[in-house]
Amino acid sequence: MSSYVFMRLLESSAWRYDRGMRLLSRGRIGKVYESMAAMVARPGIRILDVGCGTGGVAVACAARGAEVVGIDRNADMLDVARSKTLPFGARGTVEWLQLGAAEIEDRFGPSSLDAITACLLFSELSPDEQSYTLETVLTRLRPGGDLVLADEIVPASVARRFLFRMARAPVAVLTYLLTQTTTRSVEGLAESMRAAGYVNVDEQRPWADFLIVSGRRPLEAA
Ligand SMILES: C[S@@+](CC[C@H](N)C(=O)[O-])C[C@H]1O[C@@H](n2cnc3c(N)ncnc32)[C@H](O)[C@@H]1O
Repeated sequence: MSSYVFMRLLESSAWRYDRGMRLLSRGRIGKVYESMAAMVARPGIRILDVGCGTGGVAVACAARGAEVVGIDRNADMLDVARSKTLPFGARGTVEWLQLGAAEIEDRFGPSSLDAITACLLFSELSPDEQSYTLETVLTRLRPGGDLVLADEIVPASVARRFLFRMARAPVAVLTYLLTQTTTRSVEGLAESMRAAGYVNVDEQRPWADFLIVSGRRPLEAA
């Protein structure tokens, strides 16, 4: 799905984002939100969803009883998120804040979060922003707390990589011409997490060019 670069277009028309993402992902994005929530969300735990957009992951976590804060720098995406209701009977909560990833350090105290999620955020960050975010987030997780990221990757096989790049290039140019922004498929995310100090790093590839990666803040040395 090299067309994820179209996400940038969808973000400039936030009320169309959910429908557009369902089309781009051929209906699979909802399963990604549910998988991420299933990995971390439990009743009463405190979760931060960074780059929450229209709230897919945050709502799925709150539906499982978690107390979620969704942050995003785009006010229009947050308006869509705020319009959503939790499923009947859900006991979790969700709060939406307009905040950039770089402001996490100021807004959330050290070790104050049980889990952190970010879906399709890292492909919008520069390599320096990615490293900074991984390092900051580690200090905001409690020891033993989990980070779960999901994003577009370049496929592993040579043939698929070739096709992926051929298909992506024109879409990226068109998106850039229309929005003056683009996304880049993330590379080496699991290695970057290990280098930043996460343990138990684990990767799943639900399809060829999509990755869900989780890692844990180590328990303090005894
Ligand atoms: C492709 S959307 C993903 C939204 C949502 N997580 C999802 O999976 O549907 C990326 C979101 O990240 C937000 N974003 C990008 N860079 C950000 C940053 N530095 N800080 C906070 N949000 C950011 C964008 O505004 C956008 O809503």
